[in-house]
Amino acid sequence: MNTSTADSPGLPPVVTVSSVHKRYRLGERVVDALRGVSLTIPAGTICAIVGPSGSGKSTLLNVIGLLDTPDSGTIRLEERDVASLNPTEAARVRRTRLGFIFQDFNLIPVLSAFENVELPLRVGQSAKAGRREWVMSLLDAVGLADHWSHRPGQLSGGQQQRVAIARALVNRPGIVLADEPTANLDSATGHSILELMHRFNRELGTTFVFSTHDPAVEEMARSVVRLHDGVVAA
Ligand SMILES: Nc1ncnc2c1ncn2[C@@H]1O[C@H](COP(=O)(O)OP(=O)(O)OP(=O)(O)O)[C@@H](O)[C@H]1O
Ligand SMILES: [Mg+2]
Repeated sequence: MNTSTADSPGLPPVVTVSSVHKRYRLGERVVDALRGVSLTIPAGTICAIVGPSGSGKSTLLNVIGLLDTPDSGTIRLEERDVASLNPTEAARVRRTRLGFIFQDFNLIPVLSAFENVELPLRVGQSAKAGRREWVMSLLDAVGLADHWSHRPGQLSGGQQQRVAIARALVNRPGIVLADEPTANLDSATGHSILELMHRFNRELGTTFVFSTHDPAVEEMARSVVRLHDGVVAA
């Protein structure tokens, strides 16, 4: 078992992964994507998951984000064992405690920037009072207040990813998970996306866990988990 503990000692862990195994079967082929991964991410950290293609980064983010279930091992989010959650509770944790950012932005093309950011609030049927102001303040924070009415097709890749960051934060989650959020951006734009994560980390205390291939982006993380062939490298 390999254990990696991110820095920032003294803070309670927001994510604890213990001896997690995940095997995929594709016809005859069996892939052990995670082979006993253990790690702890303290609250308020910016953690990069790095490693070669196929090393298990996306699989790890998916099991942490309750998008997939491990075959064995345990995952605790904000000190709660996620195996104890029924499907409704898991959906609720996913919606309210987790935020997601994707490589290809995943915005809804027919909705404006404002509507994309607002959507998780509508889905969660949160109170209408103050909603508009909160969505606008997030768009302002990512530098897009005057683009609120633009649809994704009318925004650059970097702008779309900034909308996606605002959307990920709209329910005030404790943890934002991002699978290669800068992979489709040029390096300067990728850098600015990481700077935004740092700013929200400072101002809102949000923990960010992201995967990357980019050494320059990796350098901006406060802690790094290196995966190799489904295990955490020493
Ligand atoms: N749904 C799936 N079905 C079958 N095999 C899968 C599935 N998802 C991932 N795998 C396999 O599990 C292993 C780990 O994949 P994963 O996507 O987690 O790697 P990764 O580190 O994110 O790679 P990349 O850097 O290319 O995104 C790979 O061998 C992959 O082919
Ligand atoms: Mg991946």
